[in-house]
Amino acid sequence: MKLAIVSAVAVAAAGFAVAVSYSEATEAPPANASPIYGVTIPEGYRDWKFVAPAQEAPPLDELRAVLANDIAIDAYKSGTLPFPDGSILVKLAYKRKQSTEFPPATVPGAPTTVQVMVKDSKKYPDSHGWGFGRFIDGKPVDLAQHETCLACHESRVKDHDYVFTRYAQ
Ligand code: HEC
Repeated sequence: MKLAIVSAVAVAAAGFAVAVSYSEATEAPPANASPIYGVTIPEGYRDWKFVAPAQEAPPLDELRAVLANDIAIDAYKSGTLPFPDGSILVKLAYKRKQSTEFPPATVPGAPTTVQVMVKDSKKYPDSHGWGFGRFIDGKPVDLAQHETCLACHESRVKDHDYVFTRYAQ
């Protein structure tokens, strides 16, 4: 009986130790987060709604598709600008490939990057509320690339809350 109590206390203490180290771990930056912004690839994004396609001329020579979560889709549909906090936009990019089954058609080839913009005005006050992330094979690209995001979006689309893509009907 005494042994049972001692071992119960030991188990509880071990559980407490695990809980403490777990909460410390959750305060560290998440794995595979982008430099500067700490943005990660959002779970379930591949099932989000479609906003618009885009095509990039060589040398990138890519097809792109922009998807958005429900908060951003609602903002698009109601014409709400700026996008509200919680909006997330994801751009998927692929090499352009000529269809082998029907040559006039261009189809997605190898995937290249996944790019993410997250709206959180408290977390990102210095970048108009947007956090940026660019990923290759699920891993964030380097700091230098992340230093380019804001400048281009800021200089060209400030009248559309720094977002290029319009909703394609
Ligand atoms: C030189 C300009 C330029 C730079 C630098 C740039 N972007 Fe963009 N971005 C664009 C353009 C143009 C689009 C519109 C879609 C397209 O043409 O691919 C876009 C679209 C996006 C979108 C979809 C939402 C929107 O604004 O249309 C995301 C997400 C995105 N970019 C993330 C990033 C991230 C992350 C970086 C930095 C790692 C970055 N961009 C750097 C030009 C740029």
